[in-house]
Amino acid sequence: MIDSAYSIGVPADPASYRALRRTPGAHVIEVIDQRALPHAYVTVRIADADAAALAIRKMMVRGAPLIGVVGAYGLALALDRDPADAALAKAHSALDATRPTAVNLRWALDRVRNVVAALPLSERAAAAWREADAVASEDIAINHAIGVHGLELLREMARRRSGPINVMTHCNAGALATCGWGTATAPLFLAHAEGLPLHVWISETRPRLQGAHLTAWEMGQRGIPYTLFVDAASGLLMRRGDVDVVFVGADRVARNGDACNKIGTYDKALAARDNRVPFYVALPSPTIDWQLTSGDGVPIESRSAEEVLTTLGRDDYGQALRVSLAPPGTRAVNYAFDITPARLVTGFITERGIARAAEWLVAMFPDEQRKRA
Ligand code: MRU
Repeated sequence: MIDSAYSIGVPADPASYRALRRTPGAHVIEVIDQRALPHAYVTVRIADADAAALAIRKMMVRGAPLIGVVGAYGLALALDRDPADAALAKAHSALDATRPTAVNLRWALDRVRNVVAALPLSERAAAAWREADAVASEDIAINHAIGVHGLELLREMARRRSGPINVMTHCNAGALATCGWGTATAPLFLAHAEGLPLHVWISETRPRLQGAHLTAWEMGQRGIPYTLFVDAASGLLMRRGDVDVVFVGADRVARNGDACNKIGTYDKALAARDNRVPFYVALPSPTIDWQLTSGDGVPIESRSAEEVLTTLGRDDYGQALRVSLAPPGTRAVNYAFDITPARLVTGFITERGIARAAEWLVAMFPDEQRKRA
């Protein structure tokens, strides 16, 4: 358990599950193998840097903030074995190569490397563990602050209407994607805790089904009413007036506000604009790439065609089953992320407040820009 976040005054996420735990002092982390959810709750101990890299690459852990934190701990694990410069560089580049799109990974790796690089070899591993703990604790605090700002939006909506607020979300920007609270889900979890009536529309998120597998599971764990829908139904649901607001996460946001998130997010933003539904991006500051002037420069992960051509589920007896969906020999593309232009975003919910335009973001984080320019 990462306890330090709570000692800086952040309320503990009341959920019983944690995407990542570290017993203070232990040189090992424990993560949920998210590939097994919702059918099984499996935790895995990660005790070396190669295992950390594999966990990210195989999507045992996923979600921009969480892969950043696991990357940071991966570097600490590498330095436990060998604190020399060459080993540090090798582990940094191996971890960085695991997934290309979420900028949080590079940000967290650079942060740990920059702290340890100036230290004598004998002090490096301990400093890396401390820094990785700080990244993890700050993640919880940032997400909680996003929750507090997003909650204000939901309270305002609740004042203007009767019945539940219908929130649409995509993929999983939940507690499973972070060290606690989630980003897009933090306002929902806080609203539910204070009794605001909510209903969450969850898009299944083909091909890996993070919505169906993970977000639905998280809502169920917390007793929040939800309905799953096929990705292609977003437009219809908005047109029918069934959606009050869209909250999504992000993997990398350029300084002009173009937001990269799970494939299908752009379609939702377009449908939201056409139907006058407010569209918010929950955005922790480590997800902003200050060096990128527009979304065109985001490296979009292209994944295996197998993920599109087959699907994995459980049969009636609980046996895992992979079935194929298309004729043999079918070609498929599998871009994992897309870019939503800033003009379609109603606001960015950050830990420092809600930015209604990219210029506000720039003004909100002068210190972060200086650090990362
Ligand atoms: O491919 P994934 O599951 O890592 O993609 C995750 C997302 O796209 C999330 O929406 C994003 O990382 C924000 S998580 C707080």
